[in-house]
Amino acid sequence: MTLPAATAERLRGAVLEGLLGTPKRLPSAYLYDTAGSALFESICELPEYYLTRAETEILQRHAPDMARRIGAGALLVEPGCGSGEKACMLLQHLREPVGFVPIEISTSALEGARRLLRERFPALPVHALQADFTASFTLPEVAAASRPVFFFPGSTLGNFDPANALSLLRRWRAMGSGALVGVDLRKDPDTLVAAYDDARGVTAAFNLNLLERINREFGADFDPGSFAHEAIWNATESRIEMHLRSRHAQTVRVDGQRLEFRAGETIHTENSYKYTVQGFADLARHAGWTLSGHWTDSGGRFAEYFLEP
Ligand code: TRP
Repeated sequence: MTLPAATAERLRGAVLEGLLGTPKRLPSAYLYDTAGSALFESICELPEYYLTRAETEILQRHAPDMARRIGAGALLVEPGCGSGEKACMLLQHLREPVGFVPIEISTSALEGARRLLRERFPALPVHALQADFTASFTLPEVAAASRPVFFFPGSTLGNFDPANALSLLRRWRAMGSGALVGVDLRKDPDTLVAAYDDARGVTAAFNLNLLERINREFGADFDPGSFAHEAIWNATESRIEMHLRSRHAQTVRVDGQRLEFRAGETIHTENSYKYTVQGFADLARHAGWTLSGHWTDSGGRFAEYFLEP
């Protein structure tokens, strides 16, 4: 994966700051290097990871209704589009969309999405934007004369703490005339923990890949075998937390510094917040949106929300 130099530099700073801080943590964006992105694709197919299947079911069943609500002549904008496959499910039903704006931090993912869209919708103008969508970005010129509608599936909003989720929704409110957001629903802890700690250990490999990446990019000497993947349900914060727990006391060298771990100490690597419909409606309202409709899968596990000004 290729990153713009300024983004790479900012991410490097965040890694060191997180590891040297107390409690130790790592920026979750760091999970998605080439190996991490491939592991994440495998996670989406795990029996325990219901999120992708549930959301796909919702999109398959309700995309025509979603498209009706979005209306004709929209400019679809997808921050963190990944492969672009979910956007295709929606674009298939949109009436006369004026274009698609995939936003990706990774050049390779952006290229992949551009290629897929050209193949599936040859007549649709695609304005690919390489940007970190958590920083501010400017929409292409065409946006001024059209109705930008944000598409943010995959419960990615749940990977931001509520204050940051709120500021993302606020910023999009200032630019957009609608938003379709997919977020996982709060449910029983056993189902949630299993989704983030699967029997085959793919999620563990995804989490531990962080240490391999830091070894490579910082000349660090983490022994991934000395850390255990852990998924914890934090009911108070309504989030799944992912950690890497040090199996014993150890010292690791990172970027010329010595990093001490107590036995059992963790690096907090990711959060996945879970919302009730009411909780999400409140968040959207605080960001200046009105929740005008939502759809869930047949198992009632996941929700897709349509927001209007
Ligand atoms: N947004 C998804 C989720 O919260 C994807 C994701 C982010 C994820 N980090 C993850 C999935 C770690 C599995 C493990 O579920």
